[in-house]
Amino acid sequence: MAALMEAPLDTTQMDDEEQLEEMEEEEAGAARCAAFFHVTELENHGISRQDTQKLAAGGFCTVQSVAYATIKKLCEVKGISDTKAQKLREISYKLVPSTFVTAAEELQQRQQMIMLSTGSKELDKLLEGGIETGSLTELYGEFRTGKTQLCHTLCVTAQLPLDQGGGEGKAMYIDTEGTFRPQRLQAIAERYGVSPEMVLENVVYARAHNSEQQCELLKQACALMSEDRFSLLIVDSATALYRTDYMGRGELSERQMQLAQFLRQLTRMSAEFGIAVVLTNQVVANPDGMSFAKDATKPIGGNIIAHASHTRLQLKKARGENRVCKVVDSPSIAESEASFSVGGAGIADAVE
Ligand SMILES: Nc1ncnc2c1ncn2[C@@H]1O[C@H](COP(=O)(O)OP(=O)(O)OP(=O)(O)O)[C@@H](O)[C@H]1O
Ligand SMILES: [Mg+2]
Repeated sequence: MAALMEAPLDTTQMDDEEQLEEMEEEEAGAARCAAFFHVTELENHGISRQDTQKLAAGGFCTVQSVAYATIKKLCEVKGISDTKAQKLREISYKLVPSTFVTAAEELQQRQQMIMLSTGSKELDKLLEGGIETGSLTELYGEFRTGKTQLCHTLCVTAQLPLDQGGGEGKAMYIDTEGTFRPQRLQAIAERYGVSPEMVLENVVYARAHNSEQQCELLKQACALMSEDRFSLLIVDSATALYRTDYMGRGELSERQMQLAQFLRQLTRMSAEFGIAVVLTNQVVANPDGMSFAKDATKPIGGNIIAHASHTRLQLKKARGENRVCKVVDSPSIAESEASFSVGGAGIADAVE
């Protein structure tokens, strides 16, 4: 990753204890980041270079991705037979064993979880630190509620040091609506006092024009993520192309099936690379919504999206630049709300 902060740490002034502490912190940081083995690791366990190349070309760039795939999925990779898939599974299970841990150990792991700051203190507080890495967060809401602006802000905070609410990684942005604006990143970088050039270097961007391309891009995404430390993947919007590619009742089940595949791949990537996956979603008028209902809109995608996202956040308009974020569904946060604002420097605390 391109270095965000210019001045390197001056260790000449430190005594031994301070240096040791610094080193331990760095090690802890590295341990939290290094979540996967590159697929080439399999070459040290009897798998040929040709086969690891075939796997990588098929989107399996890490040992974890091989271990988590079904035999059927592995066989879909060109040149991988059923026997080979069995062998791959056996080896990858040994390298990344799936075992029980105690809840106490799990708690310790969770406490080390990296959270990405949203840019608003109130919102971070609501989310108990920010957007969680290692899982999927869905942002839904009407137009102009700040979904895209929050995505841009996260692309910058994802790169900040851990102690500043960052993820010390690169950010990846899949744009299906053509609303990504690098200039916005520059303005947000300036607010955080980090180099705008470096921030731009650390964000990779791709435009998807149809839902198949959107899904296909994830293979490239895995390849990039296995080479470099990323902390964030944005898909803005996750549903728009599926909605236009599959029209009407007749295609609804096919649409949901394809969307589910896409989301499953995102879930896998969030765990494998320890990244925060943030997807945006529009809302449609709720056909069941009676005129007196408080919320006559609902997010697109139905249960498929609801089940895939670990945390669902609804963004709503408020007065002026202010917006409200409501936690609709979360494994650990009660249903509650916080205010924030959308402005030239991205997401910030609400203005009076
Ligand atoms: N440079 C800027 N300075 C101030 N406010 C801005 C700037 N750029 C965008 N905004 C504000 O951000 C809001 C748009 O938010 P955003 O694009 O995130 O909406 P969205 O939720 O993604 O909508 P959609 O569903 O249409 O994609 C607008 O209210 C706009 O005024
Ligand atoms: Mg948008």
